[in-house]
Amino acid sequence: MKIQRTLSESAFLVNESRARRVDISQDRYAQLWVSKATRELWDNFTAKVYPYDAVELGLRNRFFLDTLRLFVRSAKNPVFVNMGAGFTSYPFLVEEPCHYIEVDLEYVIDFKRKQIETWIKNGRMPKRTIDFIPADLCSAGDRKRLQTRFISALADAPSFILLEGITYYLDEAVLHALFEMCAVIQRPGSVLAFDYWDPMIAENPVFLRFKKFCAERFGHKETHYTLFNEEFIHEIQGYTPVEQTDIQKLEQRYTDSDLLKNSFEILPENYVVLQRK
Ligand SMILES: C[S@@+](CC[C@H](N)C(=O)[O-])C[C@H]1O[C@@H](n2cnc3c(N)ncnc32)[C@H](O)[C@@H]1O
Repeated sequence: MKIQRTLSESAFLVNESRARRVDISQDRYAQLWVSKATRELWDNFTAKVYPYDAVELGLRNRFFLDTLRLFVRSAKNPVFVNMGAGFTSYPFLVEEPCHYIEVDLEYVIDFKRKQIETWIKNGRMPKRTIDFIPADLCSAGDRKRLQTRFISALADAPSFILLEGITYYLDEAVLHALFEMCAVIQRPGSVLAFDYWDPMIAENPVFLRFKKFCAERFGHKETHYTLFNEEFIHEIQGYTPVEQTDIQKLEQRYTDSDLLKNSFEILPENYVVLQRK
């Protein structure tokens, strides 16, 4: 599997984690994206940063998947928009009809579209129709283009917009612009969900090792993480939080283990589901 850009390597890495705990993640297609090189990267990552990434990523995937399934079952003509979709498999893990839209950088989108077409053709994945949209979420021009397209696509449909594994990589100004765009394009009752890291994570030893690893391996500057708290979430205009949870609560919900009980041995991630007013 040849896609060498550093940004997307982390998108492969998280799929190895999902694939290792399919019992939690329920993502039986995650392993399709994993090459020998990704497995080696994963071994290196878990040895240097922390050993619980498979549990954490499994739980994150499961939480968003269950939230999406619930939404699709209860909505009429639902639309699911995954921004920074990477190599996630949500359309293939939901049975009910839904309009799927995935947004990511052009080279990721092109690569994903081609792989999926091949795997659907040879029966390794079930048939799904996904609109793939290449866009750089950091570009004001691309966001404008997305907004125009989504205003018509989401006008008559309840939508679920997901930002997974990406809020901490985007500048705060970009996040604000994206949330404003979501409020414009989503109709009342629609859902916006994402994961985030609280500023308290700044002193966490796992986070410090994570930053060092990402700087060395992916060239991501150690200073360049956007952290925010509940107050920030309550200030997002046009939305009401309907669920707020964290990785330790998800472990209690989905497993009998307590591997994640020590906050200094994990990446303490938070999750929020908001509803458009
Ligand atoms: C850590 S990966 C997470 C991928 C996926 N959401 C998941 O949870 O597995 C981050 C993703 O965001 C995408 N991404 C990063 N910067 C982006 C940008 N400026 N515009 C669009 N996508 C971006 C990357 O290509 C990658 O697929």
